Amino acid sequence: MTRLLLVGPPGAGKGTQAAILAETYGIPAISTGDMFRSNVVNGTPLGLQVKAIMEAGEYVPDALTNEIVAERLGEADARAGFLLDGYPRTLDQVNELDRILLAQNAALDVVVLLEADIDEVVGRLLKRATEQGRLDDTEEVIRHRMAVYAEQTSPLIGVYDKRNLVVRVTALGAVDEVTARIVDALAQRGISAS
Ligand code: AP5
Repeated sequence: MTRLLLVGPPGAGKGTQAAILAETYGIPAISTGDMFRSNVVNGTPLGLQVKAIMEAGEYVPDALTNEIVAERLGEADARAGFLLDGYPRTLDQVNELDRILLAQNAALDVVVLLEADIDEVVGRLLKRATEQGRLDDTEEVIRHRMAVYAEQTSPLIGVYDKRNLVVRVTALGAVDEVTARIVDALAQRGISAS
């Protein structure tokens, strides 16, 4: 039963690494960004509510975000472990995750912080813009997402540091090099691949 968080600025590689780690550790990768994007694509009521917020690079309100995560973590596969990508991002979300886990008599194992400098991540996202056309990947919105991350999410690292949960991993280099660093860091915390 492994419960991981993957934290880092936009473009650090959270989604890329989450997909690989989910396979490696046999746990579901749960991405709030992917859940919101799929609602937008499908034109659901939630999608209609969050579309403009996401395109502006702002955070979706905590109440909406907490609700979809609470529902997802209640599903059978996530009860046996999970890797959360992009949640929690605010203190309110940290508190909600604590509440959910307490109710399940469960606890987080590790918070993996992917560290990368701003020029690298902006470069990756501008490249992705040409490949995929994600609407929040314009240079202006990317810079805004970075600022929102710095203001609202980076302070959460201190919260998890106090709980001795954070491992810091350099997100530069090839994808498989970053994966290897994460796997090593998790092994040092006693977490091995399934
Ligand atoms: P979300 O989807 O979580 O986006 P993000 O945090 O901005 O992150 P990205 O998906 O841009 O980057 P990533 O770190 O996952 O990197 P990736 O692997 O994709 O959130 C989007 C929006 O949803 C938010 O702005 C907000 O509106 C809303 N939202 C989501 N969660 C929320 C929450 N909890 N609360 C409130 N609102 C929320 O890689 C990026 C690119 O780099 C890819 O092209 C990839 O191929 C490439 N790449 C990856 N690794 C490497 C590498 N090692 N070398 C070179 N290129 C690489």
